[in-house]
Amino acid sequence: MKTAVLGSGGWGTALAMVLLENGNEVTLWSYQEAESRVLRETGENPMLKGVPLPRELALTSDLNCVRGCAMVVLATPSFAVRTTARSLKGVLDPGTVVVSVSKGIEKDTSLTLTDAIEQELGPDHPVVALCGPSHAEEVGRKVPTAVVSASRNQKAAELVQDLFMNERFRVYTSPDIVGVELGAALKNIIALCAGCCDGMGFGDNTKAALMTRGLTEIARLGVAMGGRKETFAGLTGVGDLIVTCTSMHSRNRRCGILIGQGVPVQEAIQQIGAVVEGYYATATGKELAEKMGVEMPITEAAYSVLYEGKDPRKVITELMTRAKKHEIEDSWL
Ligand SMILES: NC(=O)c1ccc[n+]([C@@H]2O[C@H](COP(=O)([O-])OP(=O)(O)OC[C@H]3O[C@@H](n4cnc5c(N)ncnc54)[C@H](O)[C@@H]3O)[C@@H](O)[C@H]2O)c1
Repeated sequence: MKTAVLGSGGWGTALAMVLLENGNEVTLWSYQEAESRVLRETGENPMLKGVPLPRELALTSDLNCVRGCAMVVLATPSFAVRTTARSLKGVLDPGTVVVSVSKGIEKDTSLTLTDAIEQELGPDHPVVALCGPSHAEEVGRKVPTAVVSASRNQKAAELVQDLFMNERFRVYTSPDIVGVELGAALKNIIALCAGCCDGMGFGDNTKAALMTRGLTEIARLGVAMGGRKETFAGLTGVGDLIVTCTSMHSRNRRCGILIGQGVPVQEAIQQIGAVVEGYYATATGKELAEKMGVEMPITEAAYSVLYEGKDPRKVITELMTRAKKHEIEDSWL
């Protein structure tokens, strides 16, 4: 089938290669012509070193590449998803399935990325979120990986499953697009915190506590927003949390490590050199929690470090000395 991937960063490139491997016709679109030129001239994406780009992969910076596509994948940073969707108006054929593979919540509106796409493109285009524990570097190396194709439109979720799935890339479907997108976006906050704890020299105990209590607060917000509790125990919940909090591939974790070592926040983000989604997700997550009246102490703590310059060590002590609680909140209800 004819497909296009918009955004030629590490993730867009790795996914374009999966689609190509499965026999699809694929165009990889770059936001800037200069980026497309580098791919053409070097035959490699600098974010995926050592993975040669197949010659059959069409490279362009012309958005007309989406014409006639059965599926278009948006793989930009979350802040650019709406504007990229907007630029597709009038270019995209009616019925083309639009897939978001970015991880974030829209700043200012606090909408999920697929809701923002839907607002821009209207009901003519089924929208799907494809998320899960997946580092571009590992998908590029064809390491076995499993993700979730979530949509309110089952046929669209299944089309995405069919186009992407192969013996190294397993795709499950889910109707819980809210739960899937929120899990994928909010875990980046916890990854930043996990990195920060590593940077401060804490150990496995701290990280395990952070991940577990982090998942509790992610699920609390996710359920309040209409997600299903089970989704947070799945690939885009606990799965994505494990992969991002424990790996050096995770730029959110690496950024957290720098902050934990005392590097100022903006300098740490600059050093990473690619989008650090957890930084934005912390602000939107905190805002959503306040709006929904949901307690998210770790997210609040992260916000105070990232945006208010608070000392992470002080913040850890504050988290550890919060009022006594039961672990399972509703066990006494
Ligand atoms: N890298 C991964 O392993 C991975 C895995 C799963 C999901 N994701 C998610 O996918 C998204 C993209 O990640 P990435 O790793 O490919 O990022 P990246 O930083 O490697 O690349 C982002 C791409 O977006 C383009 N871009 C920048 N500004 C833009 C704009 N205003 N409009 C359109 N395009 C713009 C850049 O030119 C670049 O090609 C993020 O939301 C990330 O969380 C990444």
